[in-house]
Amino acid sequence: MKNAPVNNQPISVKLDIPTGEFTPCMELDPRKVSHLSKMFSDKAAIEEIIRSGDRLVYEIRYYPFITDHSDMALGTTVIFPGTVGGEYYMTKGHFHERNDQPEVYHCVQGEGVLQLMTRQGEYVAVKWEPGTISHIPPQFAHRVVNTGSVPLVFVAVFHVAAGHDYALIEERGFKYMILEKNGQPTEVLNPRWS
Ligand code: F6R
Ligand code: ZN
Repeated sequence: MKNAPVNNQPISVKLDIPTGEFTPCMELDPRKVSHLSKMFSDKAAIEEIIRSGDRLVYEIRYYPFITDHSDMALGTTVIFPGTVGGEYYMTKGHFHERNDQPEVYHCVQGEGVLQLMTRQGEYVAVKWEPGTISHIPPQFAHRVVNTGSVPLVFVAVFHVAAGHDYALIEERGFKYMILEKNGQPTEVLNPRWS
């Protein structure tokens, strides 16, 4: 994440809920199927999508609030509706590098699931709708899955020093995958955890 200027003054931004865009914004980070090739389970479907030009899965926008004394960051994420091999579009999911760093997520549009998991495999899934605000304790990996038909938009507040650790999720995924079955989101045990 780029650094915002340090001026020790209060900063406010304006969020456009339907798009997840806010102004001013320091950084836009688009994530496509090719960025999530280790995350989705159907490797043939991933290859086919990449061969035919790739697809945008989600966009993250950041504004780090940096002062001389403390530093928070604001992020919004918009996850578009869709599936890869029946697995709903989702964020990569990560642990924070620092094991004392929590986070707050606030769903402002769409419907989905927040998946939380410890390194030992303790797993919690929270159903999301607009207005849901979730606390993510330190040492819980977190991923959001869009199970609806409109873009899912959420706001994240965290410490800029938290860091992102994707390694375990790239290797094993979350304990459960959320697949579309007969038009309904269904939790299925991830074979990489069995
Ligand atoms: C920051 C945070 C969010 C995510 C964003 C994308 O700690 O949790 O800003 O970074 O929702 O998810 P990932 O990073 O898992 O691709
Ligand atoms: Zn995080």
